[in-house]
Amino acid sequence: MQDEDGYMTLNFKTRKPGLPTVEPASSSLWRVMALVLLFLCIALVVGLVALGVMFATQQNCIQIVNKSLPGTPQQLTKLSSQDLRKQSKEKDDFRHKNITCAPNWRLYGDRCYGFFRQNLTWEESKQYCINRSATLLKIDSQSILGYIKSRTSLIRWVGLSRQNSNKVWKWEDGSVVSKNMFELSENARENMNCAYFHNGKIHPTFCQNKHYLMCERKAAMAKAGKQL
Ligand SMILES: *[C@@H]1O[C@H](CO)[C@@H](O)[C@H](O)[C@H]1NC(C)=O
Ligand SMILES: *[C@@H]1O[C@H](CO)[C@@H](O)[C@H](O)[C@H]1NC(C)=O
Ligand SMILES: *[C@@H]1O[C@H](CO)[C@@H](O)[C@H](O)[C@H]1NC(C)=O
Ligand SMILES: *[C@@H]1O[C@H](CO)[C@@H](O)[C@H](O)[C@H]1NC(C)=O
Repeated sequence: MQDEDGYMTLNFKTRKPGLPTVEPASSSLWRVMALVLLFLCIALVVGLVALGVMFATQQNCIQIVNKSLPGTPQQLTKLSSQDLRKQSKEKDDFRHKNITCAPNWRLYGDRCYGFFRQNLTWEESKQYCINRSATLLKIDSQSILGYIKSRTSLIRWVGLSRQNSNKVWKWEDGSVVSKNMFELSENARENMNCAYFHNGKIHPTFCQNKHYLMCERKAAMAKAGKQL
């Protein structure tokens, strides 16, 4: 039908010049039109195939980005590296929150507590903690006091000492013991310059005595998270 119409139109147009001997001219024109149509069809098919390929490629790219595979196509390298950077940042943030302690150390707050059954003098205990990148315990809040009390019922050295009977009690970090938490001096006799913890109380005693001990150190990940 279309062919017929096309033919008629062409025939009509070609008649304009005037002569009845239009047959060769119109057939050559038809051939040209057919070729043009053919080219249009081929172009259309090629275009469709190209579109299909592009679509398929994009699908693959999306999948690759989703899976964050290392081998990404060039046009998506930027996006994918941003993606990976974002992911690793999220991982870091997550890790900062996820604080853990080494085996045998207990996590409480942002700190790790180690309870050791080593019978040592106060100085040896101090060194024992230092050898483990830790310090003797500082009990400076009711919550830590409660925690330690619940964890151990044994006598254990803490990081509290004084230079002599005339000096104030100080924690290992140099801070003075708060008066309302413990009453030390009234029990402390001459030359009792080191303190141990027992059943929720701090007791002064001779530094050369041997007791078990406990150490504390910052939970590794909490440290990084706090400093950032
Ligand atoms: C990519 O992941 C998102 C969410 O994780 C999902 O909705 C989408 O369908 C995924 N796309 C492909 C192509 O897998
Ligand atoms: C912390 O990380 C460990 C493994 O790295 C995991 O088993 C644990 O569930 C994580 N805890 C939290 C609270 O995310
Ligand atoms: C610690 O050692 C001292 C002296 O060697 C000893 O008298 C004491 O019973 C020991 N304590 C413990 C808990 O083993
Ligand atoms: C601490 O480490 C030093 C050196 O490794 C060692 O000589 C010492 O005995 C250790 N002290 C304690 C109490 O573990």
